[in-house]
Amino acid sequence: MNENTLREQISLIGKSLYDRGLAHGSAGNISVKLADGWLMTPTSSSMGRLDPARISRLDANGSLVSGDKPSKETFLHIAMYRERPTSGAVVHLHSVHSVAVSCLDGLDPQDVFPPITAYAVMQVGKLALVPYYPPGDESLVEAVRKVAGKHHAVLLANHGPVVAGSSLDAAVNAIEELEQTAQLHLLLQGRPTRLLTPAQVAELNRRFPN
Ligand code: 13P
Repeated sequence: MNENTLREQISLIGKSLYDRGLAHGSAGNISVKLADGWLMTPTSSSMGRLDPARISRLDANGSLVSGDKPSKETFLHIAMYRERPTSGAVVHLHSVHSVAVSCLDGLDPQDVFPPITAYAVMQVGKLALVPYYPPGDESLVEAVRKVAGKHHAVLLANHGPVVAGSSLDAAVNAIEELEQTAQLHLLLQGRPTRLLTPAQVAELNRRFPN
């Protein structure tokens, strides 16, 4: 895909996320890898009203080349790409159910969700919990860097999810699956639940490696 098509794709997907309530206000950001840098959504922009021409263009060091001032989470996205070189896109949201789970006490920081559905296992995998730091903080970038090699999906405590994928579609599909899994997880709280067995999870990982 050429750069202009990618700009259009980011704007279309941003609007789709916004229209379905998965992004609100100026929360969330999207990046896509280019041959010599990245496209990044501008800081304080609404996912629902992105202008393809104003999306930030960054060089291979993350410095702004053209467009509006990039997201304050730019270096968090870049940490994901550096730890996961096959990633083509990164998406961060403040989607409600995922954020609600990110505020729960007693989560397993290596594997937030028990295996409730096949698609959660296939697309989200083991979701890592990253300790709380303010948005855009260097310590947050460092904390994400530590877990990103082993986890393509991470949950920032009291903040929201960040997901890397091989393409923009893959990253968005996975973060939508994460949000739906978070909703199911909350719906099932306090109810006796039949989880997938370790053997069923192992079979999914064998058939659908992520
Ligand atoms: P930006 O507006 O800088 O992209 O930040 C939004 C956000 O989601 C912070 O976590």
